[in-house]
Amino acid sequence: MPLVTSKDMLAKAYAGGYAIGAFNVNNMEIIQGITEAAKEENSPVILQVSGGARKYANPTYLVKLVEAALIETELPICLHLDHGDSFELCKSCIDGGFSSVMIDGSKLPFAENIALTRKVADYAHERGIPVEAELGAVGKVADDATLEGADHTGNVFTNPDQAAEFIDKSKCDFLAVSIGNTHGLYRSAPSLDFALLAKIRDLTSIPLVLHGGSGTPVDQLKKAVSLGIAKVNVASEIGRAFTDAYIKEVKEKNTWWAVAKKEGKDAIRKVVGNWVDVLGSGGKA
Ligand code: G3H
Ligand code: ZN
Repeated sequence: MPLVTSKDMLAKAYAGGYAIGAFNVNNMEIIQGITEAAKEENSPVILQVSGGARKYANPTYLVKLVEAALIETELPICLHLDHGDSFELCKSCIDGGFSSVMIDGSKLPFAENIALTRKVADYAHERGIPVEAELGAVGKVADDATLEGADHTGNVFTNPDQAAEFIDKSKCDFLAVSIGNTHGLYRSAPSLDFALLAKIRDLTSIPLVLHGGSGTPVDQLKKAVSLGIAKVNVASEIGRAFTDAYIKEVKEKNTWWAVAKKEGKDAIRKVVGNWVDVLGSGGKA
């Protein structure tokens, strides 16, 4: 089976009241752990790569590893660029075989975010590739506030009154929202603004995306999905699961490092299996 785009995957999730997990990857064990879990649950899955991870892992290796996962699992798998920061990076990923991209113009003024997103969307859509964009800005745990209107994390909440105009003019296919979600491992549980999410959902008709999935309480995730979130991004929990399991094996049990990696992979498999259950994508492949 070839890579699938995120378009149908997220349209079905949005209409069906469930969400697809989008997990960040940068090496073989992570791809294996995630896709083995998805296979066990018969779930569609999005493997996503940041610009930095793509540089680290090498685009050729990454695409080939994902192709191997397609062969092994025969699942609908989408390969997505996460937080693309330029037209050139998005173009390079599209030309290099990715089946979905995000252009993140969230730190730009409104009109410039629209213009950059539109430029990527025009190029991507001509090639059948869908585009995620971000309105408002999702910050990072412990980031300093640098943007106007930002709280201590750097979060700038999505302005619901701009959402429809943004989507209409930028032609994005999915919209990442800032509703109190933050990147990184939370120090205390977030309180997502569901009134804001409901307003955005009511004013728009495309699948919505929740970044900063790691550590979000299950009840809040389920509520967010019921209000139009069809893609949830998860990175930190993946890294933490792998690292903790690997270090424990090597340090506490003196396990040979190449064997300890299996423990890391298995830890990721458990984390992803749990995400699939919470998001309700099991059995939807
Ligand atoms: O784009 C990636 C994510 O939004 C992941 O955030 O590390 O908090 O799960 P996270
Ligand atoms: Zn993100």
